[in-house]
Amino acid sequence: MATEQNTLVFSGIQPTGSLTLGNYLGALKQWVALQDNHRCIYCIVDQHAITTHQDPKVLRHATQEVAAGIIASGVSTAKTILFPQSANPNHTELGWYFNCIARMGWLNRMTQFKEKSGKNAEESSVGLFAYPNLQTADILLYKATHVPVGADQKQHLELCRDIATKFNHTYKRRFFPLIKPLITDQSARIMSLKDAKKKMSKSDSADNSRINLLDDVDTIARKIRKATSDAHLLPGTMECLEGRPEAKNLLTIFATLQDKSLADSLHSVSNLKWSAFKEMVIEVLLTTLVPIGDEMRRLLRDRAEIDRILHEGAVRSRHISQPVIEETRKILGLLSL
Ligand code: AQP
Repeated sequence: MATEQNTLVFSGIQPTGSLTLGNYLGALKQWVALQDNHRCIYCIVDQHAITTHQDPKVLRHATQEVAAGIIASGVSTAKTILFPQSANPNHTELGWYFNCIARMGWLNRMTQFKEKSGKNAEESSVGLFAYPNLQTADILLYKATHVPVGADQKQHLELCRDIATKFNHTYKRRFFPLIKPLITDQSARIMSLKDAKKKMSKSDSADNSRINLLDDVDTIARKIRKATSDAHLLPGTMECLEGRPEAKNLLTIFATLQDKSLADSLHSVSNLKWSAFKEMVIEVLLTTLVPIGDEMRRLLRDRAEIDRILHEGAVRSRHISQPVIEETRKILGLLSL
């Protein structure tokens, strides 16, 4: 298929821990698929990560590990641009300008801040509150046309459109595009292995709740065997799957890894015992994850090479974004010195 030269995909991932199966099935698999037909910019958003405290040494390692995970999953740095957000200061500069465009009321409505800050809003960092403005800058800095996100990010992308609209209206020109979310509804939402009502998360304190891309064979098998199940055989129909979150979660993992629909996969497992089904899940997981884990470990043996790849990506990202930031300064009336 020919490359769609007029589209530009932007997406980011936070180095807040070790990459999980959730990150792989919910994001990285799409990143790999998109790179053949679109120009793609993929960013390790370390400045978003520090909106909550990160140990500096751990953060440095996690950033390299996330880079290794992205590359090992199949993202080609020849086809795409991959870099850490902090290596291109144009992101935070544009983020500041958007802090001055976005209204307090808009950010007050962001449900993710309420979820992440919980009862502790007064103690949260200003960065956590304002991070959707920086996220808007990440996207508009490249005038991205498509942003693949899960449904949980839809509100932030609406804010991105509001900021672009207000900027364009205030300065009387159509400078920033109104981007389209590429809501990957069909992309899997993978839940915790210990509590299928919670998302699988790299920052969950319970390691048993997730599969890490760096987990070895025994660890993957143990975590799946110990994953919470229910007291019934696997269901035979999609209707019977409703109300059975643990079955739905493992089936989603099983189906998505094989690029099949839930309904198709259900046929091959209906009425199985959990123990037999879990062995099938382990088998498909190992087929995909063992090569990724091996490649990550190989890449991580040479962290200087990872830094070199990220530096190269940063140079390319600065090159693309520089005219946008210079034009923005001019529009705002800032001196171009
Ligand atoms: N469990 C998941 N199922 C499907 N997709 C997921 N993603 C994350 N977890 C799942 C997708 O991965 C991309 C990068 O996410 P992120 O690291 O920027 O932040 P996140 O969504 O908050 O991911 P985590 O792992 O849960 O991080 P922490 O623990 O730091 O909050 C996104 O496209 C996301 O949808």
